[in-house]
Amino acid sequence: MNTLAIMKSTKMRIVHFNRYGSTDVLELGEVEKPMPKDDEVLIKVRATTVTAGDCELRAFKITPLFWLPVRLYIGVFRPRIPTLGQELAGEIEAVGKDVTSFKVGDAVFAGTGGKIGTYLEYKCQKVTHSIALKPTNMSFEEAATIPTGGLNAIYFMEMANIKPGESILINGAGGSIGSYAVQMAKSLGAVVTAVDTGRKLDMLLSIGADKVIDYKQQDFTQMGITYDVIFDVAGKCKYTPTVNALKEKGRYIQSNPSLEVIFRGLWTKWTSSKRVLTGLAGESLEQLAKLKEMIEAGKLKAVIDKRFTLDDIVAAQQYVEAGHKSGNVIVVV
Ligand SMILES: NC(=O)c1ccc[n+]([C@@H]2O[C@H](COP(=O)([O-])OP(=O)(O)OC[C@H]3O[C@@H](n4cnc5c(N)ncnc54)[C@H](OP(=O)(O)O)[C@@H]3O)[C@@H](O)[C@H]2O)c1
Repeated sequence: MNTLAIMKSTKMRIVHFNRYGSTDVLELGEVEKPMPKDDEVLIKVRATTVTAGDCELRAFKITPLFWLPVRLYIGVFRPRIPTLGQELAGEIEAVGKDVTSFKVGDAVFAGTGGKIGTYLEYKCQKVTHSIALKPTNMSFEEAATIPTGGLNAIYFMEMANIKPGESILINGAGGSIGSYAVQMAKSLGAVVTAVDTGRKLDMLLSIGADKVIDYKQQDFTQMGITYDVIFDVAGKCKYTPTVNALKEKGRYIQSNPSLEVIFRGLWTKWTSSKRVLTGLAGESLEQLAKLKEMIEAGKLKAVIDKRFTLDDIVAAQQYVEAGHKSGNVIVVV
């Protein structure tokens, strides 16, 4: 290998994120390729995703409840993290000297465990959390969708404690989290009503929804039907009509809670048999292993809408931000 080739191989491409704002703040650049520490692996990224959360972080449109902690974490005046992105799939190119659970060449998928940053070509990752071998029946592109959609869906579906035969309505079912949640609820034996925009409804029926509702045409809270569980992924439900659309002992799961939902949820708990539940999904190895098992058993599949490259990252974020996304948008690295 000549000197130029060696120099080239020490650099990697990355989408810089130095300011909060419109997609104009995203710039493709080059930095030194990282070296794994003793307890890390170096992953050659084959695919990552653009999620609604990535766009919300870039523009810093964060729910008021989490605004301050997230701002303190990401950077008060400007982002401290080098790039955006929360999930990836790729191949292990190097392992630190203490790593025994993975080897060079392993195909893996990984979340960032809150340490955002996957719009790049190489990523160092600790092996103690949020990394697992890629399911054998998924491509890198499909596997890259598991950490956000899959982990959030499994966390909130476990919270819902669904019993076979119960009814669940998933509001915002056509996105990253919802498309996994529909399949999980179905595999738990629930009767699933999926709510989203019209052009996503066929996809929702194809992944197992029993009924679909176009939220632009009909308000599910005004249809005279009640549910055991209502999971509001989109964070758009109105509190009183939603709680009224629950059966006795019904659970209202809110993945995007406001202070209003939290306080009114306490009142609902004290005065009725209904429950309002929320939380933040973690990225444990156990949950990733459960997801891998469900995928390999054919219970879950990834819904992929469009593919972009790192060069097209602005177009990818604009597509997601405009609300066009159905399932997941992939960035092929
Ligand atoms: N608590 C947590 O741990 C956690 C973790 C990750 C993400 N989140 C949050 O959860 C939210 C959803 O994430 P995601 O990645 O699944 O987003 P996503 O892929 O954009 O999916 C959201 C879906 O909701 C639909 N939608 C929008 N307005 C709606 C309405 N009024 N009624 C019904 N459906 C509506 C959207 O469709 P159209 O816009 O096309 O109409 C889209 O299909 C994000 O805000 C994210 O920040 C929470």
